[in-house]
Amino acid sequence: MRTYIWTIPTRLFHWLLAVAFTVGYLLGGEEEYLSLHAALGSLIGGLIIFRIIQGFTGPKYARFSDFPVSIKSLLSFAGNMKQSKAIHPGHNPLAALIMLGIMITALLSAMSGMMIFAAGETGFLGFRFNPGVNQESFEGVHEVIVNIFLVLVGIHLTGILADTLFHPANGTIFSIFSGYKKLVAPEAKLNVFNKTFPLFWFGLPLLLFIYVLRFQPLPTPEKEGLNTEQTDTDKDED
Ligand code: HEM
Ligand code: HEM
Repeated sequence: MRTYIWTIPTRLFHWLLAVAFTVGYLLGGEEEYLSLHAALGSLIGGLIIFRIIQGFTGPKYARFSDFPVSIKSLLSFAGNMKQSKAIHPGHNPLAALIMLGIMITALLSAMSGMMIFAAGETGFLGFRFNPGVNQESFEGVHEVIVNIFLVLVGIHLTGILADTLFHPANGTIFSIFSGYKKLVAPEAKLNVFNKTFPLFWFGLPLLLFIYVLRFQPLPTPEKEGLNTEQTDTDKDED
């Protein structure tokens, strides 16, 4: 028996997030790709904001009320992982916890990245901190958060691999491609709002992606400026 669990918008969100994260992370810190990096990071931020709205308005299994993250659910899941699919057709308690962690760190990664720009001379999308705000401290925060994000993605992939090896009958890994799991449960259904919402969910973050890529000026790294000054002084001294 197959049951429809992950609807098309959820799957589209998943794969846009996965690709944007993978490419964006690999390009992080590469100066010649900073524009694409900032655009991909902004895309991620936008996708997450709409995913949060979807968490309150979306179809069953995508709603946060369907994320079984209470201590009681987590403990009973730890005690009997095999039974869990019958009780939790969507995310199991541990998966739900990791999903929330990924959403929060993804949003914080995007925000801290934007702060690096906002602390520089170009600002970000018209917003700029007062001169004197330390850009390097935002770089440090950004580096820490994106690496927590990476660890959570690693746990997510390990969880999916473990589920595929130990509970192959439910076909969880295939569900993020097809939408279906092999279990008996109520089907996920989209109402009119859920069918219209993806226009904004994907449309606005894609516009933001294009805008940042095309029009956002890039800050010149502070350290480079310091180096130039030093060289000039060195020359004077010589
Ligand atoms: C080849 C790589 C990947 C595979 C096979 C995969 C597989 C899956 C599967 C099967 C689910 C549903 C889990 C369940 O039924 O409980 C899922 C959900 C999710 N995955 Fe992945 N994933 C991959 C990469 C990623 C990456 C790189 C990220 C983050 C950057 C990510 C973030 C998420 C999130 C946030 C959800 C929850 C979706 C929602 O509730 O809207 N995944 N993934
Ligand atoms: C949302 C997902 C994001 C991820 C996963 C991510 C990941 C990374 C990584 C891995 C680095 C390299 C850190 C290092 O030097 O070790 C980096 C650097 C950087 N990122 Fe992001 N980033 C994201 C979003 C953004 C956004 C939205 C912006 C700007 C609008 C941005 C701006 C920067 C800048 C300026 C650096 C260079 C900082 C430095 O030189 O230390 N990032 N990012």
